[in-house]
Amino acid sequence: MSSPSAPTPGSWPAPAAVASAEPPHTPMPTAPAAAPGLAQHVQEGLSRPFKTLSSMYFYDDEGSRLFQQIMALPEYYPTRTEFNLLTRHREAIGRALRPQNPAEPFFLLELGAGDGLKTKILLRHLLETDVRFTYVPVDISEAALQGLAGSLRAELPALQVEPVVADYGDALRLMASRPGRKVVLFLGSNIGNFLPPDRQEFLQHLVLPLTPDDRLLIGFDLQKDPRLIRAAYDDRQGVTARFNLNLLHRLNQELGATFDLAHWQHYTDYDPLSGAVRSFLVSTRAQTVHFAALDWQVEFAAWEMIHTENSYKFTRPGIAATVQASGLVVEEFFTDEQEYFADVILRPEA
Ligand code: TRP
Repeated sequence: MSSPSAPTPGSWPAPAAVASAEPPHTPMPTAPAAAPGLAQHVQEGLSRPFKTLSSMYFYDDEGSRLFQQIMALPEYYPTRTEFNLLTRHREAIGRALRPQNPAEPFFLLELGAGDGLKTKILLRHLLETDVRFTYVPVDISEAALQGLAGSLRAELPALQVEPVVADYGDALRLMASRPGRKVVLFLGSNIGNFLPPDRQEFLQHLVLPLTPDDRLLIGFDLQKDPRLIRAAYDDRQGVTARFNLNLLHRLNQELGATFDLAHWQHYTDYDPLSGAVRSFLVSTRAQTVHFAALDWQVEFAAWEMIHTENSYKFTRPGIAATVQASGLVVEEFFTDEQEYFADVILRPEA
């Protein structure tokens, strides 16, 4: 993914700037090959009593393009709030992340860097100080990492970059043997997409290869006016609906499925008790869907739903509890003026 030109500190790039950064979308002449694991996942998820599909399959080319649009929507506050928060607190965050001794080199590892727009705020700031560090973006997609590395070479030529194509756990274990502090960035509200037990397990695995000298910076979307939260997942222009429905289009393309998008709707709800936003695809009538690639079919009753995503929203005590249960201690808590979003600095318990 190519990156938009450098944003002025303190301002979120206008939607046009984000949109223009995307390469023009040309439809595939032939059906793309199915993503690895997709067929098995779909068959398993749609055989459950309450049908489900994993959000990990949202991001094909069209899905990634639509998600860029979501991030620029007036209702979708998380991305621009975190961008402004990082801009505002970059110095204090930089101080908390780098080692006491400026001569000691350190590694800044990022899990799921995307286009790096938010990370560049920190990278630019750290480059202006006298610290020595290496930026290690981690992703399972080599193409995504090459795009990011290319844009960094052009925009921040002085930056040392060592991309690692691996899953998060492997990358951390790999880096553990290198001397120097490791700082792990997990920005956005990705942590909110895990169910609570999976979140715990994810954090516990993250901590395992780290030492008490290492640090983590994790983004948490905070609980707020429930109407505001709901609107972020059900925007007026219907971009989020198209993003969710694109998953069915993808199954049509890659698995030869027969989803008729005219009879499916996007539905979302926010439950303040659990803090979860849940997104669904709703079958508006009884229908049967065939999957040519699986030689298989599924029945949907009228108003039956497919659960596609959880986005948990947190309270401060909730964050403290979740990190503590994973062997982590909150070192510093950064938030925006409205307290919509938090970037939290954590360290492993000694
Ligand atoms: N996972 C992101 C989030 O929780 C992406 C997202 C935004 C999303 N809107 C969505 C996922 C709607 C599914 C449905 O914010």
